[in-house]
Amino acid sequence: MPTSDPHNPPTIFRPGAGSVQLSRAEIAARVAELGAQITADYRPKDAAGEPLHLICVLNGAFIFMADLVRAIDLPLTTDFMAVSSYGSRTATSGEVRLTKDLDQSLKNKHVILVEDIVDTGLTMQYLLGYLQGRRPLSVKVAALLSKPSRRLVEVPVDYVGFSIEDAFVYGYGLDVAHRYRNLPFVTSQVTEEG
Ligand code: XMP
Ligand code: MG
Repeated sequence: MPTSDPHNPPTIFRPGAGSVQLSRAEIAARVAELGAQITADYRPKDAAGEPLHLICVLNGAFIFMADLVRAIDLPLTTDFMAVSSYGSRTATSGEVRLTKDLDQSLKNKHVILVEDIVDTGLTMQYLLGYLQGRRPLSVKVAALLSKPSRRLVEVPVDYVGFSIEDAFVYGYGLDVAHRYRNLPFVTSQVTEEG
C-alpha cells in the first residue's frame, strides 16, 4: 500500500490515535445545526430583499463551505478568496497576503465569512478588516473549528462548529502539506511524543 494513499496515512497521521476526533456523522449533524441557525438568523433580512453572501476562505474551508451552503434554506450568493500567511504556523505573524481576491462587490450584502479554523485569530482579524473596508451591510464569521486557548487577538466567531484543544488537525478540507483534505472526518496529528 503506497503511503500517499490518503485513506491509509503513514503512522504519524493515523486517524484514531490523536486527541481530537470528529466523525463524519458528528460533523454532518453540526453543520446541519449551523445551517438551521443561519437560516433562522437571516430570514427577516432575506425578506427585506438584502442578499446573504457567503465567502469561502480557500483552501481549507472548501468542504465546510460546500456542506454549509446546502444546509442553509435561503437564497444566497457565494464568492471565494484565498490568503496565504507569512511565517510558520507556530510563529504566525498575522501578516496575510491575498492570493485570490473577491470577484463580487460586497455593496448591500450581508456577508458570512466561512473559515476552516480560527487559531490565533490573526488571519481572521486581517480578513475582517479587509472585508469591512469594502462596505458590506454586515459581516459575520462561520468557522468549522476554533482553538480558543491559542487566541492572541479577540475576534468575533459567530458560528462555531467545534471548539477544540490545541492540537494540529487535518481532514475535511484541512491539510498536512496539501494532503488529506479529502478525509471525510477531522483528526489530530499524532506526534512522536504521543
Ligand atoms: P490564525 O493563527 O491566523 O491561523 O488564526 C488560522 C489559519 O492557520 C491554519 N491552521 C491550521 N491548519 N490544521 C490546519 O490544517 C490546524 O490545526 C490549524 N491551525 C491553524 C489555517 O490555515 C487557518 O486558516
Ligand atoms: Mg486556512
